[in-house]
Amino acid sequence: MEATAGQVVHLADYRPTDFVLERVDLTFELDPKQTLVIQRSLMHRREGASEQAPLVLDGDELTLKAVAIDGNPIDESQYSVNDKQLVIGNLPTGVTFEVTVETIIDPEANTKLMGLYRTNGTYCTQCEAEGFRRITYFMDRPDVLGVYTITIIADGSANPVMLSNGNFLGAGDYGDGRRFSAWYDPHPKPSYLFALVAGDLGVVEDTFTTMSEREVALKIYVEHGKEARAAYAMDALKRSMKWDEEAFGREYDLDIFMIVAVSDFNMGAMENKGLNVFNDKYVLADPETATDQDYANIEAIVAHEYFHNWTGNRITCRDWFQLCLKEGLTVFRDHEFSADQRSRPVKRIAEVRHLKAEQFAEDSGPLAHPVRPQLYREINNFYTTTVYEKGSEVTRMIATLLGRPMFRKGMDLYFERHDGQAVTIEDFVKCFEDVSGRDLTQFSLWYHQSGTPLVSVSANYDAASQEFKLSLEQMIPPTPGQQTKEPMHIPLAMGLILEDGSDAKAATVTGGEFTDGVLHLTERTQTFVFEGVANRPALSLNRSFSAPVNLHFDQSAEDIVHIARHDSDLFSRWQAINYLAIQELTAAVKTTEAGGDVAASPALTSILMATASDEALEPAFRAQVLALPTEADIAREIGSNIDNDAIHTTRNAIMYSIASAIAGPLEYLHAMTTNNGAFSPDAASAGRRSLRNSALTWLSHIDDGPARAAAAYAAADNMTELAHALTVLAHRFPGSNEAEAAIAEFEQRFAANPLVIDKWFMIQATVPGDTTLRRVQDLMRGSHFAPNNPNRLRSLIGSFAMSNPTGFNRADGEGYRFLAERIVEIDGRNPQVAARILTSMRSWRSLEPGRAAHAKSALLAIDLSGRLSTDVRDLIDRMLK
Ligand code: PHE
Ligand code: ZN
Repeated sequence: MEATAGQVVHLADYRPTDFVLERVDLTFELDPKQTLVIQRSLMHRREGASEQAPLVLDGDELTLKAVAIDGNPIDESQYSVNDKQLVIGNLPTGVTFEVTVETIIDPEANTKLMGLYRTNGTYCTQCEAEGFRRITYFMDRPDVLGVYTITIIADGSANPVMLSNGNFLGAGDYGDGRRFSAWYDPHPKPSYLFALVAGDLGVVEDTFTTMSEREVALKIYVEHGKEARAAYAMDALKRSMKWDEEAFGREYDLDIFMIVAVSDFNMGAMENKGLNVFNDKYVLADPETATDQDYANIEAIVAHEYFHNWTGNRITCRDWFQLCLKEGLTVFRDHEFSADQRSRPVKRIAEVRHLKAEQFAEDSGPLAHPVRPQLYREINNFYTTTVYEKGSEVTRMIATLLGRPMFRKGMDLYFERHDGQAVTIEDFVKCFEDVSGRDLTQFSLWYHQSGTPLVSVSANYDAASQEFKLSLEQMIPPTPGQQTKEPMHIPLAMGLILEDGSDAKAATVTGGEFTDGVLHLTERTQTFVFEGVANRPALSLNRSFSAPVNLHFDQSAEDIVHIARHDSDLFSRWQAINYLAIQELTAAVKTTEAGGDVAASPALTSILMATASDEALEPAFRAQVLALPTEADIAREIGSNIDNDAIHTTRNAIMYSIASAIAGPLEYLHAMTTNNGAFSPDAASAGRRSLRNSALTWLSHIDDGPARAAAAYAAADNMTELAHALTVLAHRFPGSNEAEAAIAEFEQRFAANPLVIDKWFMIQATVPGDTTLRRVQDLMRGSHFAPNNPNRLRSLIGSFAMSNPTGFNRADGEGYRFLAERIVEIDGRNPQVAARILTSMRSWRSLEPGRAAHAKSALLAIDLSGRLSTDVRDLIDRMLK
């Protein structure tokens, strides 16, 4: 299971370690340049393991000082060490022994942000997936569980706060300026869940009383002066703890739960046992600096990391191929939490938009892989939208197939049967088979087959026999390493909507299983017959997006509009309108490319107007309806020979035609007041703000100048409306005095707040058109940019590459050339961030030939640039294959 540079790890090669870990004692003597780590581990040879087998420990960029067995120092006659491994021979059989390993590490030099590093003067760790080996030599894999005791020793004045996993044991002074702090975690855990934090931080404190009346101390650590901005995260944490008790019967299991916000972090956050470490972007919020989206993200990510305590920590993964076991399941849990805290249909719409934009895009390109992969070269490259979001959808489908009460029973069994273990997807699925008696063998193909299934639909109603016939055909496109596919078990929630808007109740359904409104498509082609349908219905298929598939269905605009007006499932009403819009937009791009003029159809225009002005519907839903498919959505739908400029022009022309026709209602929505008194981040208030923002966007398409947007900017009293007005100014009226003035004012006002400057970067980096590249280059030379900070890199360079279709995909290829140079630079310091930004080029083969050729030479330039990390090397090889 060892991946050295370029080597492939196969799931089929899994075998347990020869030695079994029992306990680990770690002592850290913290120093910015020379930290001493003393590890004492108790272990024994596994029963049945060879008596000759040596102990093989992983390492990475470590300086080894000493090794001892049972307290007796050993030398290189008994061990060998290289850059990646420490191998110890001559170890006993049948008894527990103690291995001592002393290493020196350099936190300050750690720009990869894996292992122990420094961020704004704070010591902090990140160990998932393979970062613990950058702290000490260890069996650094998730199926090696141990009970940890931690002692931290450091300069007391610089590090009044010293934290690790588990419960606090005690702290004290050595009298020489140094202090120590000790922690004990009684729950056996894998090394990737280890964490340590030390520094001078402020804290926000609260408590939570669990369902069995235990009081848990809650602490959120932030930089001094930022305490007030952690209030919302604390509130979200308490709601998460309560929800997990109610929805899943899960109680917290330590005396203390801590979150630490740091400003340099490769990902969103990390679920270390009892000590979650967060990117500060997902902790800090107040009305002046955070948007409604920021609040929603904080709520979701706080919940996600907290939920990992059971799905990930108490029950962990046997190996990294099982990553979706914890991530897909935990995303599903945080989605359900947010749906319960906010509006379920609106949350589902946002999820599906994100799933299609990210996962469907990944699944149709060179980086496509199964939810549970068979092999990898670099595990860091598998923290993907497929593992997370498709993994969540697969869990959701199990809940749909079984029904919610049976799903809960299966989860209960999973927690009971596997608590304290490191398990596989098969173990997880077996729990649902055992409680329900359902065979999930075919269903499990969702874990193994990559690619988004395409379901082609044809429907026919026969008035004489009162039969509605539905023929379905499934096709799963070929993906890397998988040329042919087996038919899958696809649960399609559906309804037949009659003229009066009600659902037809068919007397009988033949041709396959149809239970509780869910059709089970299991064959390659299958025809279902609904008998006793008195009138011709409109088919509403894949309600709530019950299966993550593409549908191909030549449904009449009339039927689509009927669904959009009447479906009992609000999500489906949005889905119908979105479908109509994407059909029209893609057809219009063809018209533009052929030199014609485009305008929206009366059907689309009127359904948008009717839904947007329907006061019976919640504002957030209406805002979702008003948000047309993005340029990236249109590109994905077209699929090949993509000309980003044609898409941009076409979408704007369609928006112009619609805005002209519904200007009155839009002005009414824009004039709406969103704040009755004090700001509140709740979902209903956020919905009103998003509807009003949406109206401003639409109106900017018919305004002949920036006056309205400039006035909105001046009037905004919260970040959601301020940032939106700035976006409209910058994107719709680029170069205008008003836009430039607002950009300058925003910078001045928020110069001291890097998280807000990230928004400023992002807004400017996503201005459509050729000149943005120049602006991004200027901003990189400016004072706010920090080449080692992941958030700055992502918001400036990442958003340019990922969210600026015309600016990045400049026809002359300059965008790609720029990115290639940046990737090589960033890769030298932080491979994970470089690799993540590089995925922006994953769909390069679907570009028109001119752009595709430029993109390819940029990828080849990276390929030939010499010393690449395994992260970037792996992606480049797959993208060029
Ligand atoms: N396990 C983290 C989460 O999804 C993500 C993560 C992966 C963070 C790797 C850091 C490094 O909750
Ligand atoms: Zn997670």
